[in-house]
Order: sequence, then structure tokens, then C-alpha cells
Amino acid sequence: MRRKIIAGNWKMNGDGELVRRIAERAADAASGAELAVCPPFPLLAAAATQLPSGVRLGAQDVSEYEAGAYTGEVSGAMLREAGCRYAIVGHSERRTLYSEDNARVAGKYVAAQRAGLTPILCIGESLAERDAERTEAVVAEQLGAVFEAAGDRAFAEGVVAYEPVWAIGTGRTATPEQAQAVHAFVRQRVAERDTDSAEALPILYGGSMKADNAAELLAQPDVDGGLIGGASLDPEAFLAIHRAAT
Ligand code: G3P
Repeated sequence: MRRKIIAGNWKMNGDGELVRRIAERAADAASGAELAVCPPFPLLAAAATQLPSGVRLGAQDVSEYEAGAYTGEVSGAMLREAGCRYAIVGHSERRTLYSEDNARVAGKYVAAQRAGLTPILCIGESLAERDAERTEAVVAEQLGAVFEAAGDRAFAEGVVAYEPVWAIGTGRTATPEQAQAVHAFVRQRVAERDTDSAEALPILYGGSMKADNAAELLAQPDVDGGLIGGASLDPEAFLAIHRAAT
């Protein structure tokens, strides 16, 4: 039975009051799907102390370096010590705004695992790539870089989040069929390397998942949860999505 995970990526949003409000509502979160919160780095300490014990903490990024003269970077060991279980790597905003290529993302993925974190690898195509029917080629390249860095069992201790770039923050959500097709492709690519990790791999959907569309997305056989942006900043909406996954 694969883990179901609903994770909230706050991006560069939120404050101590939102931590308090999310912690308050998360206390009521029914069992079932795992709930994770990924606030900006400065809010990790408050979240670690206030979130109910069953709610996991995640970082929005992690350095590929372990320690040293890397101004502004945050290491996996520091994030582990701060109470993180997860680290998002390769979010499309890091890839496009900060020029993180597949090789660098793969280095972050490996560094996260080495620090005892579970990486959430974000993959997905742009609208132009989808229109050019290159979705599977793009996703295969993104997965391939991680296999090259971490080996055939790279995803034995990992999570993948399929986030079509054209659906992020746009309100234009992938259809359940579109999401299922890419999730199934991801699972098949992983299975070509290691069948056990493919079967156990949680594959989350991200890209305008909301309370009113979560259930139909989460009903797809290869959609094991969601990586939620905007809706994770609203405690009621975020918990409604969690309920849809339970
Ligand atoms: O990492 C999740 C995020 O990219 C999705 O954002 O606002 O479309 O839910 P949003």
C-alpha cells in the first residue's frame, strides 16, 4: 500500500500567524493521508514546535553541498536538525528563475538523501513542451538525471511530484486523465530500473489542486497525493484537500 501525502508548499509566503493557524487546524486532521508543511526556512523552527506530532515538516530546497563556503545555502544536515523530514528539489520555479538544471537538481536529490531527508523531486513540462508533444521526453530526462546520480534504486527512498508548469499558480489544472497518464509514465520509467521502488513510490500531483478538484485527481490510480501551493496558505482549503485524500 503506497503512502498518500498531501504537502503544502508555501513558497515565499506566510508568517508566524499562519504557522499558528495551520497548526491549530492540523490538530483536527483525520488520520489517513500524511500531511506535510513546507514553509520558508525562517518559519521552520516555529513550525517544528507548533505543528502536531503527526504533521511532517519539509524544506522548499536544499543545498547540494554538505557544508562550507556557500553563502546563502542551507544544508540537508541543518534541515534534518531543524526537524525536516522532506526536502523539495527541482521545483519549476528553481529551475526557471534560478537556472537549476537537471544535473544540479539531481545533486540536491542525492544530498537530501545523504542527510536523511526524503527528497520530493519536482518534474513537469512547460506548455510549449506539451504542445510539442514532448511531455514524456522532458519527464524522462528529469528522471534520468536522478538515476544517473543515484542509481537504479534512486526512488526507493524518494517522492516524485508531477507539476505541469502550465498548471502552477494558473488555476488551469491538468485533467485527471492528463495527470494519470504522466503519473503512470513516471511509474513505468522507475519500474524499468527497479520494480519494488516503482510500486512503493508516492507520486504527487501539483498545479492548481484545490478543494473542489482534489477528489477527482486523487481518485486516479497513480496519483498518491498532492503538492499544494496557493491552497496550502488557507487552512480550511488545505485540510479539505487532505480530507479528499483520506
Ligand atoms: O509546489 C506546488 C506548487 O507549485 C503548486 O502551486 O498554487 O498551483 O497549487 P499551486
